[in-house]
Amino acid sequence: MTAVLVASAGKHGGTRGIAEVIAEELRACGLTVDVRDAAEVDDVREYAAVVVGSALYYWRWRPEAVRLLERHTEALRSRPVWLFHSGPCGPDVLPPRVSLPARVALLAAAIDAERTATFGGRLDPATARGFAARILAGGRRAGDFRDWHRIRAWARDIGRRVRAPAQT
Ligand SMILES: Cc1cc2nc3c(=O)[nH]c(=O)nc-3n(C[C@H](O)[C@H](O)[C@H](O)COP(=O)(O)O)c2cc1C
Repeated sequence: MTAVLVASAGKHGGTRGIAEVIAEELRACGLTVDVRDAAEVDDVREYAAVVVGSALYYWRWRPEAVRLLERHTEALRSRPVWLFHSGPCGPDVLPPRVSLPARVALLAAAIDAERTATFGGRLDPATARGFAARILAGGRRAGDFRDWHRIRAWARDIGRRVRAPAQT
């Protein structure tokens, strides 16, 4: 059975939740899926395809996700890789689209990654720390803006492509 890795990095579980839903859809497509924190990934060579996602913090990816791309650039280059990031919150940012941070864009080019998806994020005022976090979480930006319908549709498309690579 074809194995897919879904690796993610975040701070408060919102991105991990997206990774788990992506995995659910891939499994429904008949694929074997491992969901891992990006920091825990030692090797990607056993996987036929890889999905890497990160939360956005101050316009950057989490270092664990960047390191995964850096450490495994060669292996990732020889298998299909999909990237996503999650962050934008608030009713005015949907559907969100955020460019990859510069360093990640370079790595994505080196890996020849597929198109990147931006998903809305989740901001819980209870977990927000510091001045910026309080501003972000204080008003209309607080809440869960993860669009499960879009996330599932994106994952199903990946599932179809992994199962039928000749037709892509
Ligand atoms: C301090 C702070 C900085 C953030 N910076 C950004 C940002 O630059 N761009 C963005 O789209 N979202 C930003 N966000 C929103 C987070 O990316 C969003 O809450 C995300 O869902 C968090 O994922 P996690 O629960 O996996 O950590 C920020 C949130 C906080 C608390």
